[in-house]
Amino acid sequence: MGKVVEVKHPLIQHKLTIIRDRSVGTKDFRSLVDEIAMLMTYEVCRDLPLKDVKVHTPVAETVQKELSGKKLAVVPILRAGLGMVDGILQLIPAAKVGHIGMYRDEVTLEPVEYFVKLPDDIEKREVLLVDPMLATGGSAKDAIDALKKRGAQNINLITLVSAPEGVKTVQDAHPDVDIYTASIDEGLNENGYIVPGLGDAGDRLFGTH
Ligand code: PRP
Ligand code: URA
Repeated sequence: MGKVVEVKHPLIQHKLTIIRDRSVGTKDFRSLVDEIAMLMTYEVCRDLPLKDVKVHTPVAETVQKELSGKKLAVVPILRAGLGMVDGILQLIPAAKVGHIGMYRDEVTLEPVEYFVKLPDDIEKREVLLVDPMLATGGSAKDAIDALKKRGAQNINLITLVSAPEGVKTVQDAHPDVDIYTASIDEGLNENGYIVPGLGDAGDRLFGTH
């Protein structure tokens, strides 16, 4: 079974509390989502492989560690996942970026796929699939299906706020996927919104309704 990591760093919890507040506007919401995504990347990359490298410091020659060059791909689920991409790229600037367009039908709550564009060598890359919200889990489950259909083998899901129902849906369908989230909230309300959650992440990021 893939691991579920609730990344409870104080800075992340503090920033997440700010964006939960309904009075926070688009500008601050956007920059804080970006910052939280960047901070979470630190935890997500904890096990990246390293290799030895020789360095001449001003004082001595030494053997130290550098990243071994494992290829990564950041794949946001549109729209809201876009808000997390720049924060992650600040720490992993060489990552390629794919996109999966998916929206949740407001009545059935079923995800509808409308766009998929991935790096050609996706099967060789470790994928960071990003979406601030994991609610019923339908969108993430289908996005992972879309990635696997195109050859992706090594997939991590990074979310800001998750419902236990969504975590279970992804784990049941994709037990090989690790999930990193800043919070596992109480559950879903009758409209499929995460409680307490932070509302509609896409609308809050882009100023739509
Ligand atoms: C939101 C969110 C997730 C999905 C989560 O997207 O960003 O993709 O809902 O819900 P689920 O776990 O029940 O599938 P939305 O459909 O609102 O699209 P948007 O990002 O374009 O606003
Ligand atoms: N999508 C969101 O943006 N927020 C929720 O609470 C659930 C789905």
